Amino acid sequence: MAESVAQVKQQIEDAQTDFLARFPGYRKTALLDELRATEYRRLDERGQVYLDYTGGSLYAESQIQKHFELMRSGVLGNPHSANPASTAMTEHVERTRRAVLRYFNARPEDYILVFTQNASAALKLVGESFPFAPGSRFLLTFDNHNSVNGIREFALAKDASVNYAPLLIPDLRLDAARLERMLDEADPAHPNLFAFPAQSNFSGVKHPLEIVASAQSKGWSVLLDAAAYVPTNRLDLSAVRPDFVTLSFYKMFGHPTGVGALLIRRTALPNLKRPWFAGGTVNFASVQGQAHVLSPNEAAFEDGTLNYLSIPAVEIGLRHIESIGIETIAERVRCLTGWLLEELLALRHGNGRAMVRIYGPAGTEARGGTVTLNLYDPQGHLLDYRRVEELAGEEGISLRTGCFCNPGAGEMAEGLTEEDMRAGLTLGEEINLLSFVRMMQERGHKSAGAIRASIGLATNFADVWRFLRFVAGFRDQTRLTIGDVSFDIESCRIIRDGS
Ligand SMILES: Cc1ncc(COP(=O)(O)O)c(C=O)c1O
Repeated sequence: MAESVAQVKQQIEDAQTDFLARFPGYRKTALLDELRATEYRRLDERGQVYLDYTGGSLYAESQIQKHFELMRSGVLGNPHSANPASTAMTEHVERTRRAVLRYFNARPEDYILVFTQNASAALKLVGESFPFAPGSRFLLTFDNHNSVNGIREFALAKDASVNYAPLLIPDLRLDAARLERMLDEADPAHPNLFAFPAQSNFSGVKHPLEIVASAQSKGWSVLLDAAAYVPTNRLDLSAVRPDFVTLSFYKMFGHPTGVGALLIRRTALPNLKRPWFAGGTVNFASVQGQAHVLSPNEAAFEDGTLNYLSIPAVEIGLRHIESIGIETIAERVRCLTGWLLEELLALRHGNGRAMVRIYGPAGTEARGGTVTLNLYDPQGHLLDYRRVEELAGEEGISLRTGCFCNPGAGEMAEGLTEEDMRAGLTLGEEINLLSFVRMMQERGHKSAGAIRASIGLATNFADVWRFLRFVAGFRDQTRLTIGDVSFDIESCRIIRDGS
């Protein structure tokens, strides 16, 4: 017999009492429950459980209203002209630029801020402008997003060497000793770039930010990909001073999409060389003289027209986060993640076998709210994560599955070897996540891809409880009993190169 709404409510309340006893810090985040009932009420109105904050955060209603009001009332034109509509817009853009620098505690004497389309565009700007040359190195951690992995193509094209710093299984943290040795290998006479995510979008691991200064002292410029870190953590650029920082604002506060940032430390600026120029980036360009002079500072990196109408929404979003307090968000995410991890790991089939395998740390120490996992049947066989996503969707639960554009962390977590990856590549043009998964299953029942549940500022206890109950529903289920998936993911997977 189906449970009544009252019964489910009672079950949630009982579970929450237990949760609060284990994670008392959650009580201090009650403000977010108020906002959930107002700013994010659409979640409960629609009975939706949103657990893809690492994919993108959710916006508060008031952000949209404020942005709408600004656009409704302002006469706003393309910036950088002298007319009133343009001047008004330029003022909004520049004020937002200052607000972002302030938010990250980056003094304008130390950093410039380039508005980009997203984190990937910011990463590409670094890749194409960094003076890679023969003898220089590009070092990056295994758990980088593909938009960081892609920088290796710029490095290789300029005959720099590319190396990956490995992670340790099962926690997927950096092998500190190995990294130290790899950092020592740089010749400081050449331009060397070290890139790592402040927080992994695969495992949720937060890498120690002390590596930034340590790498710099060994002759490396450091690129900190902060895209998955800043939505739930404070990044203080007066304390940690990477040469480059990349992020997307929608991951922090949901709206706007289409705006990201590249922060460049002023000391790193003179070394960068843009490979082209565009409208907006030059002080002077001549057709007959075939010459151009780039504009100084951020203007040299902002190609063409900015997404100017969206940019003021960034300041609105930052103010929203500040009104809650990033520490409050961090504490809430920590408590909910801790409970979720403990409960998932405790799930057992009737025969006593674990139902869930988690890729990454099992506790909340130096990890964020991204929980990546796979489900297994009572015989230890993997359940198809795409089918799990599909079934979750039927219950209004939004998860992410696949490799999350983070192939290296997946390869390590899932025990895929270089040989496996080379075998996959023999599929040639036929390779995609689906054909690769099939091949890995045949080659030893390995998995390629996983399920990701990520927690963010609007998540509440009931969301996590509902997800957990959904997962518990796979007790004693098998591939046959859960049925077949009705969609395919043909997605990213690239292989390690040059290491
Ligand atoms: C760690 C990390 N870096 C970079 C990106 C790329 O961000 P975008 O797709 O907004 O360019 C993402 C997106 O998921 C990410 O999680």
